[in-house]
Amino acid sequence: MAEQVGTNLTWHEGNVTTEERQACLQQKGCTIWFTGLSASGKSTIAVALEQVLISRGHPAYRLDGDNVRMGLNKNLGFSAEDRAENIRRIGEVCKLFADSGMITLSSFISPYEADRKAARDLHDEANIDFIEVYVNLPLEVAEERDPKGLYKKARAGEIKGFTGIDDPYEAPADPELMLPTHELSIEQSVARLLEMLEERGLLSS
Ligand code: ADX
Repeated sequence: MAEQVGTNLTWHEGNVTTEERQACLQQKGCTIWFTGLSASGKSTIAVALEQVLISRGHPAYRLDGDNVRMGLNKNLGFSAEDRAENIRRIGEVCKLFADSGMITLSSFISPYEADRKAARDLHDEANIDFIEVYVNLPLEVAEERDPKGLYKKARAGEIKGFTGIDDPYEAPADPELMLPTHELSIEQSVARLLEMLEERGLLSS
């Protein structure tokens, strides 16, 4: 876990309450944390959900593993330490986006339970909903799909430490939602997510 290095810092409170922000946006900010193997469908579902939410007038924003690794996290690779730092940063960013009132959709493999728990704890401490969605596609199916040809490369030894092949994926023990994307259409997955957001009262202020 990253340590606080800077000193002589004082938290500066604002004048806008969470309730005022929620009333302004007509919704409660939250983080929907998609986790699962590469090619499991995390990003595809997040893209579809974001589109439906925006079309219904709900501010939403997507943070995607590959995209964030081309910017904020461009200095990180795929060792366990770098993956932990990747998830630590994105957990903090999600918390900020969710605190701003956004329905925040994060799609990162996030293979380690401890890193996901740290992201959850950050949200819990701030009283912000953290919804873990396990996109649980079996490895064989992910490998068959292989849209980016990465499993093939990993099997051929051209990528070392590829999740599911020669690097671990620790499945969530108790996620808020499971989406077996080999059994569900994208529309069905989106419908389940919308239902869950409704049930939790996140689509109203
Ligand atoms: S995480 O493990 O740190 O959460 P993240 O979701 O940010 O991973 O990035 C995963 C993406 O990086 C994959 O979709 C894939 O395109 C690419 N990638 C490149 N090398 C690896 C690797 N060794 N393991 C997993 N994904 C990799």
